[in-house]
Amino acid sequence: KGTVRVGILGLGTVGGGVFKTLHSNRETIRKRTGFEVEVTSILVRDLEKERQFDIDQNLLTLDPQEVLNAECDILIEVMGGLEPARTVITEALQGGRHVITANKELMAKHGAELLDIAEQSGAHLLFEASVAGGIPVIRMLQGYLTANRVKSISGILNGTCNYILTEMARTGREYADILEDAKALGYAEADPTSDVEGFDAAYKLAILTNLAYEACVDLAQIEREGITRLQAADLELADSLGYSIKLIGSAREAEQGGVQLSVRPRLLPKSHPLANINDVFNAVTIQADVVGELTFSGRGAGEFPTASAVIEDLTALLCGESSIRRPSWKRPVQGSAAGKNAQQ
Ligand code: NAP
Ligand code: HSE
Repeated sequence: KGTVRVGILGLGTVGGGVFKTLHSNRETIRKRTGFEVEVTSILVRDLEKERQFDIDQNLLTLDPQEVLNAECDILIEVMGGLEPARTVITEALQGGRHVITANKELMAKHGAELLDIAEQSGAHLLFEASVAGGIPVIRMLQGYLTANRVKSISGILNGTCNYILTEMARTGREYADILEDAKALGYAEADPTSDVEGFDAAYKLAILTNLAYEACVDLAQIEREGITRLQAADLELADSLGYSIKLIGSAREAEQGGVQLSVRPRLLPKSHPLANINDVFNAVTIQADVVGELTFSGRGAGEFPTASAVIEDLTALLCGESSIRRPSWKRPVQGSAAGKNAQQ
């Protein structure tokens, strides 16, 4: 069918995985979609940085405008942070370009506005990689569960925390020490406070809730507590009593109406399906009125699982945008408001 030109913002853990996979799986992508994918320009912060893979230095730029000017058809944002990501994405969408992002903070805080801009300009904004790494849970809520009414969503939504809690229970080491390993493995955010204080999981919970209820969560509605107050001794004690401690994000319809939202460590009996989701794995359980309970699990962070989600968004666009449902996040989610503010 021809060549599609892709501009990329960011060449770190996720961007590197995307770049490498576009190369390694080029033939598969071409066969399945009919398109050759050409990367036209990549935004980085440091041109001198040593990259762990072969890359044409001429593709790299420090100027976001150059990525847009390189006549890309589709923009992939894997740089993180609110700015300049928000501005560049806005400009790309206004110019009618499709955008794929892995940025949960941006989607949780400004997704409604960006989706609106996309709709007005006839472009698509896709964000599968923003929640639960390689698990296609966004597609499930956005594209599949259309006849069901979602009653609740709960899950392990942060790979870094799950990795830390698993290692604390297994080795007795404390969280700060294991966090360094999670950073080295490419699981943690640039500012890992977002992981360990539960902000990252709150952003993801907000995105899933927005999709499930076709509305928009105010992050202040989410009761939030991270894992920083947990000690290895807590996990050891829980284990001896037959429990695991997991950081659980939960959205549940309240009896009095509205949706109750929380991110916090929970004691789960070992027989609970989420109690046995370990390491960097995430799991999401959706309870819906017709289908009942569905649980998805898989790697929730890291280079290739996340790159997989980004590239599946790309191939979805290449296979035919007409089948992509537009999420509507225009009205607020009615919440049973929490105490602590999830904004960072
Ligand atoms: P990362 O390893 O820190 O990479 C960020 C990349 O963006 C780097 O290449 C950096 O350039 C570039 N960059 C950052 N700020 C920039 C700026 N202001 N101007 C120009 N370039 C800039 O981050 P990551 O782990 O790949 O995460 C990227 C995004 O994916 C984030 O939104 C994150 O939340 C999301 N995400 C990450 C994972 C994961 O497992 N890591 C999973 C799902 C979603 P240099 O290379 O020159 O430093
Ligand atoms: N820092 C995030 C996590 C990356 O550990 O889950 C995946 O979104």
